[in-house]
Amino acid sequence: MKQPLQSHGISTVDDFDACVVRSDSSSIREFTFTVADFKRISGLIHARAGIALNDGKRDLVYSRIGRRLRALRMTSFREYLDQLESSGDDAEWQAFTNALTTNLTSFFREEHHFVRLAELLAKRAPGERMLLWCSAASTGEEPYSIAITAAEVFGTLKPPVSILATDIDTQVLDTASQGVYADERIERLSEERKRRFFRRGTGENQGLVRVVDELRELVTFRQLNLLDPRYPVRGPFRAIFCRNVMIYFDKPTQYQVLSRMVPVLADDGLFFAGHSESFFHAGDLIESCGRTIYRKAQR
Ligand SMILES: C[S@@+](CC[C@H](N)C(=O)[O-])C[C@H]1O[C@@H](n2cnc3c(N)ncnc32)[C@H](O)[C@@H]1O
Repeated sequence: MKQPLQSHGISTVDDFDACVVRSDSSSIREFTFTVADFKRISGLIHARAGIALNDGKRDLVYSRIGRRLRALRMTSFREYLDQLESSGDDAEWQAFTNALTTNLTSFFREEHHFVRLAELLAKRAPGERMLLWCSAASTGEEPYSIAITAAEVFGTLKPPVSILATDIDTQVLDTASQGVYADERIERLSEERKRRFFRRGTGENQGLVRVVDELRELVTFRQLNLLDPRYPVRGPFRAIFCRNVMIYFDKPTQYQVLSRMVPVLADDGLFFAGHSESFFHAGDLIESCGRTIYRKAQR
């Protein structure tokens, strides 16, 4: 559904709509890409995924959506957007969304969270299978870091945890479920972690590592848009990782997302946020209990 740009809270760009966007004054681009096209794309991705694109993202948008135009042999952004909006083509909408997500991640990013997670896992009740949710899993480094932490706490590759890993982007989920990475992605991990949790590729897979099968089996990957009004997930989750995705959402959207997550968070569960995210505006739902760590508001 298209909404007026103002309602998305997106800062407006140059209103000279007829202007063809150029990367610099000397280079004219392959495709016609007007300021109006950029505004239209910003509005569509904001309505669909909550992602707010500021003016600084124009080059990125040109390059990412330009690939779709090339694949579809189109010559202008307007043609592409007209077809996208009129066709109702789910596959192209997904390709459009995948093209505009930012998927930066790494193993054990914000390491202090995994120390706290390990303390939480160590408190497992006898016989309990602990449910954990990684809600912006990207290419998988985060859910596998959760799995590694669990394997270390319980001293086995089959720890009593189940990890649900979700993302809106189907392309990153494909990468995540394969669990194959360039070996420099794990270079900062200890030798012990590399040896226990990864297998090195040989021959044509030289330079690649694969997460061991036992850890991959702990993780279930599913697509889930955090903007959806209902989440088809069943908790209660002892931990929810929701890191470095809420930064793309405005505060009312963050509040709505939290109001859907908190009911599936266990009463003694932990909610892990990204390093620059804070939720003091949602104090009736969650409260801080550590550096970018939250728990259910204790009423
Ligand atoms: C910057 S990455 C963060 C990855 C990981 N959580 C971390 O902190 O390293 C943000 C991820 O959020 C996902 N994302 C963006 N909008 C989303 C939405 N509406 N619903 C679910 N995931 C979304 C993107 O596809 C991307 O993989």
